Amino acid sequence: MKTAVYPGSFDPITNGHLDIIERAVRLFDKVIVAVARREEKRPLFSVTEREQLVRQVVTCFPNVEVTSFSDLLVDFARRMNADIVIRGLRAVLDFDYEFQMVLLNRKLAPTVDTVFLLPSEKYFYLSSSMVKEIAALGGAVSCFVPPAVLAALKSRYPVCQ
Ligand code: PNS
Repeated sequence: MKTAVYPGSFDPITNGHLDIIERAVRLFDKVIVAVARREEKRPLFSVTEREQLVRQVVTCFPNVEVTSFSDLLVDFARRMNADIVIRGLRAVLDFDYEFQMVLLNRKLAPTVDTVFLLPSEKYFYLSSSMVKEIAALGGAVSCFVPPAVLAALKSRYPVCQ
């Protein structure tokens, strides 16, 4: 039984994240989507809201579990009996940050490995922060996020479409 953890802030989950989850469920027996608490980043949605939104949009995947964590990623992964961490890699922009994280995580826990998955190229430019910025300024985000997330964004930014 191969279990992988897909961690992130998911503030909020986008179609790009969903694309990665769709790929991951084909590769692993169980995928745990792990919402990082990260209050220091002043997220738009609380950890409970982010977790609920993820839960709502992954119901079609029987082998996906959703939870949150507030400790070190590698400690969380080991607690879940997972030795694989999944990260989505978009453009070169992500590379430095992801490279640093994978090497530090490897130093902390040599048995936990990171697998990078590439989303469809139509999501290469997509990020939660851009979605929030567009939503806050009244732009259309319905093509970037699932309907449940759009509704949540509208509750924060009534101007968004
Ligand atoms: O979606 P994000 O914000 O890029 O996700 C980053 C995340 C949550 C995966 C990363 O910050 C993380 O793993 N945080 C947990 C704390 C931790 O383990 N930090 C050390 C990383 S080397």
